[in-house]
Amino acid sequence: MSKILVSKRVYPEAVEFLRKDFEVDYEGTDAGLTTEALIERAKGCDAIVSQLTDKLNAEILSQLEGIKVIANVAVGFDNIDVPAATERGILVTNTPGVLTETTADFAFTLLMATARRIPEGHAFVHSGEWKTWLIDLLAGQDIHGATLGLFGLGRIGAAVARRAKGFGMRILYNDAQPAPAALEHELDARFVSKDELLRDSDFVSLHVPLTPETRHFIGAAELARMKPTAILINTARGPVVDEVALADALEKRLIWAAGLDVFEREPQVEAKLLSLQNVVLAPHIASASVATRRRMSMMAAENAAAALKGERPANLLNPDAWTA
Ligand code: GLV
Ligand code: GLV
Repeated sequence: MSKILVSKRVYPEAVEFLRKDFEVDYEGTDAGLTTEALIERAKGCDAIVSQLTDKLNAEILSQLEGIKVIANVAVGFDNIDVPAATERGILVTNTPGVLTETTADFAFTLLMATARRIPEGHAFVHSGEWKTWLIDLLAGQDIHGATLGLFGLGRIGAAVARRAKGFGMRILYNDAQPAPAALEHELDARFVSKDELLRDSDFVSLHVPLTPETRHFIGAAELARMKPTAILINTARGPVVDEVALADALEKRLIWAAGLDVFEREPQVEAKLLSLQNVVLAPHIASASVATRRRMSMMAAENAAAALKGERPANLLNPDAWTA
């Protein structure tokens, strides 16, 4: 019987599903496995259901003997060296699609919470310092009628644009390539250069994957081009933004505020960000609705199971590794 290592706690139905056909070594903890423990536990296994906290680089992949498939419980897969996996004939899968709307809901939530200063207001009411109605008490930025600039108009970026349309926002975007005309038309989204997007947007939201090209895609130079009233939203991956440069720009008020769900060295957060009022912080929860996280757990399990049964997994990232 094929054996599957599940590296960290997932929703239980995913483990029950796998146990029907496979032997399962389930690390049902929140801590998950250290690299050394993962390599050790993977011995004798055929598949790993991994999470984005498992860093599976070329060096580590070379020590995973016998592993045929790695099923990541995430849409992002920057934690896995996919080309190195392909060279070793290891299939890699992710969980696209199921989290698109949930993640877009959250990106918009963060945008609104940041623009209208919800966390500050909540803390203020709790503090007992609220004495009276004031003309400029926690005055924020308007969302309706503002210009939203999206870096990345993939599934999630487009889903954010649909929400923005309901608020009467003007939509600009930049991506490696312009989107199909039908999508541009549906969203009333205009393709602009990176500089133009930074210069003209009231809100800049990031929806690009983390790759060598997008590491520090937003740094000091980009932040300096943004409007002093602009708000940056990051629900993509932390290293897409130079966190030190961002903290500096927020402190100097080069931009107005930021809403962040992801960080360069999670769970660590740049100290200066923690001391600023004009930033709203969340612990990497954009896809975290109960229903979506359940579906992500099941989808990864189904991808692993399919591969071990000799079927092409639905969400295969490296078709070149598929030889059956
Ligand atoms: C979460 O960040 C994911 O990539 O699914
Ligand atoms: C990720 O799912 C994207 O395409 O935006």
